[in-house]
Amino acid sequence: MSEMMKLMEGRRTYRRFDQSGRVPEEVIGEILESARLSSSARNGQQLTFAVVEGREKVEEIFPMTHFAGALPKELGTPKDGEHPVLYILLLVEAGAKDPWIPVDAGIAAANMTMAAWVHGVGSCIMGAIDRKQIAEALAIPEKYEIHSAIAFGYPTHKSTIVPVGEDGSLKYYLDENKDYYVPKKEVSEISFRIR
Ligand SMILES: Cc1cc2nc3c(=O)[nH]c(=O)nc-3n(C[C@H](O)[C@H](O)[C@H](O)COP(=O)(O)O)c2cc1C
Repeated sequence: MSEMMKLMEGRRTYRRFDQSGRVPEEVIGEILESARLSSSARNGQQLTFAVVEGREKVEEIFPMTHFAGALPKELGTPKDGEHPVLYILLLVEAGAKDPWIPVDAGIAAANMTMAAWVHGVGSCIMGAIDRKQIAEALAIPEKYEIHSAIAFGYPTHKSTIVPVGEDGSLKYYLDENKDYYVPKKEVSEISFRIR
């Protein structure tokens, strides 16, 4: 397996984080650089990235970000002492209607989470967020709206890809150590060849 594929396998969603280490400035810089380098429809570069790094601000918006909808709250929501240490918000112009924005955001999020993971920084891409409350809490200028967020930190759990079980469920689950298992379909199920 190439180094790139190993990194891709390790770059999972992480939801519990070490509190002792901040994400170093150089790593934040590389995450933002990876966003800058991202492809975008028509090279439109419609995304702006708001880095929420102050501990107080991170803690203030934490309850406005919702983790692991597939799990009971007591299992999936990070407890005190497990919260992310950094958020980056993906912003777009308020009222923007371009249908490619979600694609651009997805590409940027994939690049950013990988740029972080190369340095051992785990992440959780987040759509289940209270956009209005976050915008208010952080005084995000009104010309923007929040598309999505990414939570970052050094993970304190493992996450492993597993085959889909016999019941066909794609729900991720935890073991007794609260390590994550994420069922993924086989390549043969998600692709076909045209010759
Ligand atoms: C667009 C998008 C939105 C997501 N939103 C959330 C979210 O709001 N909360 C959360 O805990 N995880 C969220 N996730 C993480 C997914 O649950 C996760 O990617 C999925 O369970 C597969 O795990 P994996 O990333 O390790 O492959 C989101 C992922 C994507 C791509």
